[in-house]
Amino acid sequence: SKHNKRKVPWKFQRCLGNYIGGLKDFKWNSTTAVGERLLSTLLTEMDGLEQGKCETGASTQKYEKVIIESDAEVVLKVLQQRRQKILEQRKSLPIASVEKRLIEEVQKHDILIIVGETGSGKTTQIPQFLFNAGFCRDGKSIGITQPRRVAAVTVAKRVAEECGVELGQKVGYSIRFEDVTSSSTRIKYMTDGLLLREALLDPFLSKYSVIIVDEAHERTVHTDVLLGLLKKVQNVRSKNVEDHTLVGHKRASNGTILEKENTDPGVSVLKQFQGRKLPPLKLIIMSASLDARVFSEYLGGARAVHIQGRQFPVDIFYTVDPQTDYLDSAIVTIFQIHSNEASGDILVFLTGQEEIESVEKQIQENLKQLREEDRKMITVPIFSSLPSEQQMRVFAPAPPGFRKVILATNIAETSVTIPGIKYVIDPGVVKARSYDPVRGMESLVVVPTSKAQALQRSGRAGREGPGKCFRLYPESEFEKLEDSTKPEIKRCNLSNVILQLKALGVDDVFGFDFIEKPSRAAIKKSVEELILLGALTDECKLSDPVGRQMARLPLDPIYSKALILASQFNCLEEMLIVVAMLSVDSIFYEPREKLDEALFNPLFLIGQSRTAKKCFTSPEGDHLTLINVYRASNDFMETRKLQVGNNKHEKVLRKWCRENFINSRSLRLARDIHSQIRGHVEQMGLCISSCGDDTLQFHRCLAAAFFLNAALKQPDGKYRALASGEVVSIHPSSVLFRTKADCIIFNEFVKTSDKYIRNVTIIDGFWLTELAPHYYAKEE
Ligand code: CDP
Ligand code: MG
Repeated sequence: SKHNKRKVPWKFQRCLGNYIGGLKDFKWNSTTAVGERLLSTLLTEMDGLEQGKCETGASTQKYEKVIIESDAEVVLKVLQQRRQKILEQRKSLPIASVEKRLIEEVQKHDILIIVGETGSGKTTQIPQFLFNAGFCRDGKSIGITQPRRVAAVTVAKRVAEECGVELGQKVGYSIRFEDVTSSSTRIKYMTDGLLLREALLDPFLSKYSVIIVDEAHERTVHTDVLLGLLKKVQNVRSKNVEDHTLVGHKRASNGTILEKENTDPGVSVLKQFQGRKLPPLKLIIMSASLDARVFSEYLGGARAVHIQGRQFPVDIFYTVDPQTDYLDSAIVTIFQIHSNEASGDILVFLTGQEEIESVEKQIQENLKQLREEDRKMITVPIFSSLPSEQQMRVFAPAPPGFRKVILATNIAETSVTIPGIKYVIDPGVVKARSYDPVRGMESLVVVPTSKAQALQRSGRAGREGPGKCFRLYPESEFEKLEDSTKPEIKRCNLSNVILQLKALGVDDVFGFDFIEKPSRAAIKKSVEELILLGALTDECKLSDPVGRQMARLPLDPIYSKALILASQFNCLEEMLIVVAMLSVDSIFYEPREKLDEALFNPLFLIGQSRTAKKCFTSPEGDHLTLINVYRASNDFMETRKLQVGNNKHEKVLRKWCRENFINSRSLRLARDIHSQIRGHVEQMGLCISSCGDDTLQFHRCLAAAFFLNAALKQPDGKYRALASGEVVSIHPSSVLFRTKADCIIFNEFVKTSDKYIRNVTIIDGFWLTELAPHYYAKEE
């Protein structure tokens, strides 16, 4: 072989890291996703390598071996080729030919709406166009918001690579619990929720010259609020700060400013800018849906431009009969495509992490049954809470001869564009928030997609050539779907949004200029809830310090309140763990049968997952159980002297998780979140201490914090949630599934074929009147 059998010298590794940009910290022996992605690209592009070596799939170890044995110069050449290829890819994007025109439009209009097919290059290219056109002069930045964390992360990584810079320098991202930016960041990708938080500290978003609201068609609640806020901010920034009439201060006839309360965000801060002029702000709204009218009308008849996309024909297939189990149908369809259809990757839309992981397992099982030569299939998951170094795997091409099956949530509908997809499997469902303002109950429910979503999904198959889309329902069902999805703001609990608005100085939340107004009942319910939690005073003003502290924490108000209370109950250590663990999906692996009552088989409970869970189980409830798991993982790491971030050590921890039926991805995320919130809480100066063995104290704190989620046992064994009156059952995944306790609190309401509550702990009913007298004393 022409390859020297030597290791790549360290110096060269460094220069390689610098060379590709964004990969400076890349270590050869690491199993980081960037590494994997790079290595798999190398494998497909590097000629003369023994490609047979990767036959068994995407095993990183094999990659490492190939690379280390390869000649360093070959690697460098390949990297040059890769840069060349990226350049060519960028040039061939539909958007590349209209760069000049787009920039002119942005210069001419303060608000521009850009509509373009998914994959045309909006998200990755437009910020770079703007940067090159000088929009970041004077140290100003371009901010791009995404509804989803994964999109913000993966796109930022891609753009850093395209620019040949290290991630976190010129190009960076910032999402809740993860900030990869620096003072030199000029192109910043972030979630829409995060920009809203930034506005709390900098009400005029003064460090940005351009803000791009991407994926606006998704109409997340944060996007909707952001649009209203940006409209105001832009208005203020376009005028001279001295001219106070524009921000709502009415002048008396003699010219003096009337001391009338101002409802605009950040007016108090504005006074600091008096006499100075804020630089103007450009707004760009980007959307994948063709209908830009609603945005244009809302934004004063803003100009909309359309980018011509490229779309190949996609054949749509429907099932002959309705399917009772779409997961099973999806798996069958995957294997049908694998054995009958030409090469090309498959994209499967599922509703969440649990489904994705269970389908992934099932596929692995099925593959084992096949003949060696039929097993050439790899699966890659992508969902929002996937650790960020694993997210990039979805973009890496499958090893030669293999078919890649991407198991994705809704995120792959428009937010991230994955190359190579030829087949789409669409079960026709999506997990969505749903809110009952009368009862004040929010839940996640699996609902049918809209027609617009179905079309977006099938479009993913026709990006690079003709494709096929398999809809797992009969054609007659398609006709029954809604045309488009209802904006999230109309189907969620608004207390978070209202707290944010109040903290931004918007006092009249009923009068806020929403693109589409949520119902009065929903706003009222949420205001009431915030008053009950003590975030707002009876006069609906933000309370100080509680309300202000709650607004600062990047959590649901009820959890922020729990942390504040816990510092008074001397159990903040415990509550931090609980809040972190409740912020992630399913810490325990649950057989999916349990999720659906129709398929629910009680015998399963005696199965393995139950037994494994037992050693962590606290008879008092799920909250202590979660703490036990967290602490057990800590103890395990300590006794083995394992360090976070060390790949070998992480592997050992993963094994421990597997043996204990704990979802290691979720646990890792929970650990990250824990350290982040801990940081916030320390900054706020809350007292972090532990109640030790005095769990009574901790349980009293749970009762004080979650009194709105208390439930009483009914004669028939079900529970009645006190605040809503809803009759619910304890979810089979709870350690209290078989409890006979009279009074409990819960954290989650799940609606499937029945109404369930999850994350439940036993409390003493008398505590409620004692600890939440403002709510319970009145009732009894
Ligand atoms: O935003 P839009 O849907 O218009 O497109 P984009 O996200 O800017 O993607 C443009 C192109 O970049 C797509 O063709 C993707 O294949 C590619 N891309 C990639 O290869 N890796 C990423 N992490 C992101 C985008
Ligand atoms: Mg995009």
